[in-house]
Amino acid sequence: MKNAPVHCIVLAAGQGTRMKSALPKVLHPLGGRPMLARVLDTAHALGAVAIHVVHGHGGEQVRQWFAQAYPQDRSVRWVVQAQQRGTAHAVLQAMPDIPDDATVVVLYGDVPLVRPQTLRPLLDAGRRTLAVLTAELDDPSGYGRILRNKAGAVMGIVEDKDANARQKRIREVNTGFIAAPAQRLRGWLGQVRNDNAKGEYYLTDVVALAVKDRLRVATVTAEDAVEVEGVNDRAQLARLERIFQLRQAEALLREGIALADPARFDLRGTLIAGRDVFIDVGCVFEGRVELGDGVHIGPYCVLRDVRLGAGTRVEAHSVLDDATAGNDCRIGPFARLRPQTVLADAVHIGNFVEVKKVRMGRGSKANHLAYLGDGDVGADVNIGAGTIFCNYDGANKHLTVIEDEVFIGSDTQLVAPVRIGKGATVGAGSTITQDVPPGGLTLCRAREQKTYPHWRRPRKR
Ligand code: UD1
Ligand code: CA
Repeated sequence: MKNAPVHCIVLAAGQGTRMKSALPKVLHPLGGRPMLARVLDTAHALGAVAIHVVHGHGGEQVRQWFAQAYPQDRSVRWVVQAQQRGTAHAVLQAMPDIPDDATVVVLYGDVPLVRPQTLRPLLDAGRRTLAVLTAELDDPSGYGRILRNKAGAVMGIVEDKDANARQKRIREVNTGFIAAPAQRLRGWLGQVRNDNAKGEYYLTDVVALAVKDRLRVATVTAEDAVEVEGVNDRAQLARLERIFQLRQAEALLREGIALADPARFDLRGTLIAGRDVFIDVGCVFEGRVELGDGVHIGPYCVLRDVRLGAGTRVEAHSVLDDATAGNDCRIGPFARLRPQTVLADAVHIGNFVEVKKVRMGRGSKANHLAYLGDGDVGADVNIGAGTIFCNYDGANKHLTVIEDEVFIGSDTQLVAPVRIGKGATVGAGSTITQDVPPGGLTLCRAREQKTYPHWRRPRKR
């Protein structure tokens, strides 16, 4: 028999007031991506043909984010729950759009760490009957408790607020995740009432209704309780972020990447690394970062969308954004590579050097205190300390071209557009406003040096 189509319902109508933020809660990032994006990934991994996101407050912002982030995704449908009248009411809002032959899985926009492998057995059980994901907690307070009869069969769920003293001692809790055949679920949801402590329509009441229908309710236990933890405030988000980061770090260590300290490592994207890559403490990786064999990243570096060839070293406190370097380069300490920087092999970029939209040829160096913006630099060029590519005239950006084997003396301004011919030497302190021919020495500074031997420094009165 063909498997029923999977429809996921993502509850995300919570106000998120405890985040104290203008940003809707489910858009707060975990590992660099909105929590909701991670939940949608999980729904896709379960093979959902449709994902119904139930939203309330801030819904417009969430939809705008989605349209921008996933313009091609046609599987997400938006459902408004204007008033929060309980989890059963929230699920019910999505049901008109779900066919009877579907299997429904209920997910939560603010529970981002749940893994597909945990939900798959729940989904499988939910094809035949109501299935509930449970967890065993040392401190179950606040959660709905799973009620079982003497034979161990599930009889219902009692919410913390409605539980008596004996029930409160039960440590098996409802995580909120459920799966069920759509037709059945629709029937139960229609019967849920709100005569309880909170005056809400509880999704958990479908359990007792399923039992009344003589169904055997299935339970699946989440091995790792962290997976089913929700985010209500920034402290919980920060806690889940650390757990998420530690998981990533441990996976990278298993892949053979040397992290000085897995607890001081942050990856907000994808990291692809060769053999014997070393990453020191306090680094942040964003977007897509590719590191060749033997790459060494010093402490406290930030790398966003970066590709580094084998043997390249990035020293402490360097910031690289949308940059590429070949093999055996040396970058930093305190270097800044900005977008569209492309370094060939064996290039050296030293401390307090900022590079933007510049190609540098093999073996070229800018070792100290320089701004290189909008340039095309050949091979074996030496750029002295204090050199500035004056690329901006106040309205437009212009190109500085430096051919192979040029030597630029310290404290030189190259006023673009300008070209320095092959093998030329530019004397220190020059302000170059015209093209420089190949070879020879070009300099531009006051002709004579004067000394006033009898001059006296002013004295303090
Ligand atoms: C719920 C469960 C409880 C379980 C716990 C796990 C019910 C009645 N109780 O309790 O058994 O142990 O989760 O965390 O389901 N939401 C809506 N619309 C609503 C109400 C809620 O979208 O009208 C969303 C919330 O944004 C939230 C989620 O559903 O993400 C859970 O709602 P919440 O009110 O926090 O339920 P709990 O009391 O925590
Ligand atoms: Ca909750």
